[in-house]
Amino acid sequence: MSVQKQTPKATTIVSLQKLKKEQQKFACLTAYDYCSAYAVSSNGIEVILVGDSLGMVIQGHDSSLPVTVEDIAYHVRCVRRGNQGALLMADLPFMSYYSEMQSLESAAALMREGAQIVKLEGGAWLAESTKLLVERGIPVCAHMGLTPQSINHLGGYRVQGRDPARAQSMIDEALILQNAGASILLLECVPVDLGKRITETLDIPVIGIGAGMHTDGQIMVWHDLLGLYPGRPAKFVQNYLNGNANGIQSAIADYAQAVKSGQFPDEEHSYT
Ligand code: KIV
Repeated sequence: MSVQKQTPKATTIVSLQKLKKEQQKFACLTAYDYCSAYAVSSNGIEVILVGDSLGMVIQGHDSSLPVTVEDIAYHVRCVRRGNQGALLMADLPFMSYYSEMQSLESAAALMREGAQIVKLEGGAWLAESTKLLVERGIPVCAHMGLTPQSINHLGGYRVQGRDPARAQSMIDEALILQNAGASILLLECVPVDLGKRITETLDIPVIGIGAGMHTDGQIMVWHDLLGLYPGRPAKFVQNYLNGNANGIQSAIADYAQAVKSGQFPDEEHSYT
């Protein structure tokens, strides 16, 4: 055990909005437990996501669908204890926000455990839930593009918004969610151009994963950053531990630095 590092200045929704205004990029990473949360938040990462990806990377399921609010709540509790000032975002899992009232109850349960913002997958249909949550003091991150909870509907983990009509409706729906009060948009697996258009259109910060190099922030799954998840990694993944002689803390810091300097992602990690 070593002496704990000093807590860095806490990230808030307001500080992320300021970064967007100043055109400064920020880095986000998932974490699911005390030590990873400590390492992530002490090495330059602004946002920690307790993602429902835990269904795959922690629980070993083949999708995020089996994850429950209780599962997310447990991991939020663990992460909260290790977090050194990153904004703590938590996923509302599959079927935990099918109605407006249910979204309020599920989100409240996660906020009580220490989440500071909740993420919901979907487009314009979430406008009323977003409004309800925001009016009651629960910040919302909208998640659009590839939404893994709809994997059975989408027919696979595919790039979304390649068709111009769908791209335009994604922009329109992102604006609807911003107007409903969403504080952040997370955009997954869309072509570079669409990532750029949405980021430029919205006033709120846009976090990308497989959405090109123009978004305000980038996010990666902890197990992908460290090359822990079996199988062939997605195009947008980079293993920062590979060849890094200084270990996990250094891999996190290198990723944060690469995002902030605009080195990651590049064309090799993006869809055209
Ligand atoms: O659940 C998760 O980890 C996510 C990321 C893929 C952004 O939503």
